[in-house]
Amino acid sequence: MIYPFTSYLKFLATSTNQHGVHSPFVYKLLTQCFYNRSFYPAYDILSTHRKALLSDDSTISVTDLGAGSRVFKSDLRKVSAIARHAGMSRKRQKLLYRLSRFHQPSSILELGTSLGLSTLAMALGNEHSRITTLEGCQATAGKAKEYFKAFEIENVDLLTTDFDTYLSNCDETFDLIYVDGNHTERDTLGYFELLQKCIHNNSIVILDDIHWSREMHAAWKQIIANEQVTVSIDTFQWGLIFFRKEQKKQDFKIRV
Ligand SMILES: C[S@@+](CC[C@H](N)C(=O)[O-])C[C@H]1O[C@@H](n2cnc3c(N)ncnc32)[C@H](O)[C@@H]1O
Repeated sequence: MIYPFTSYLKFLATSTNQHGVHSPFVYKLLTQCFYNRSFYPAYDILSTHRKALLSDDSTISVTDLGAGSRVFKSDLRKVSAIARHAGMSRKRQKLLYRLSRFHQPSSILELGTSLGLSTLAMALGNEHSRITTLEGCQATAGKAKEYFKAFEIENVDLLTTDFDTYLSNCDETFDLIYVDGNHTERDTLGYFELLQKCIHNNSIVILDDIHWSREMHAAWKQIIANEQVTVSIDTFQWGLIFFRKEQKKQDFKIRV
């Protein structure tokens, strides 16, 4: 795929770090969270969990409800291969941990559990949070649950459901929402629409893979133009959006 590459070159040319940022709210987020180089003991737990998944040779039959995989050709997949290709990188996982630690969300919603690499990062970031995470594939959800149990993660409710079904019936709001599944323009815009009733003034929404394809980037651009969105941060892999009415509307491109 050529699109992510050309898009990345453009991103490099137009993005900045904390030095180009005049918003105190965003500056604090960048300096205290994004660029925080401290070591946290939770990083060791994330690493042990990842290693266990990467050495899990069992095979599961995967039902793909999303945009499909650019890597897998068959539905029968090794857990180790799913962890390697569908899960988030170490660097992003640590950033997600720090975002959860920094923001201290009481309630978190995740669309796309897979094997739980991202869920675990958010769960450890605030052990007092309640996390609802959605996974459409029964076999994948079963594996993620097995590992949450083994790692004694108790603040996670994993629901085996389609995103649309859950969101259409949801009447709760969340402090942090992580959307990491089904990367099509139409569905991403549909989820954003359905999520409107799940956000409040201080919610953060993180959208994964906003430069995955031309269509995903088009969805991102439509989302940040929405009048409810005040601050947006494009980090290339992720788009973060904020709804704080006290902020003036500003879009940032930040290298992480
Ligand atoms: C990229 S993976 C999530 C990776 C995970 N967040 C991590 O970083 O480890 C996306 C997951 O979303 C699930 N998914 C995709 N579309 C879905 C849908 N419409 N409803 C429910 N689950 C879906 C897939 O089965 C897949 O496991």
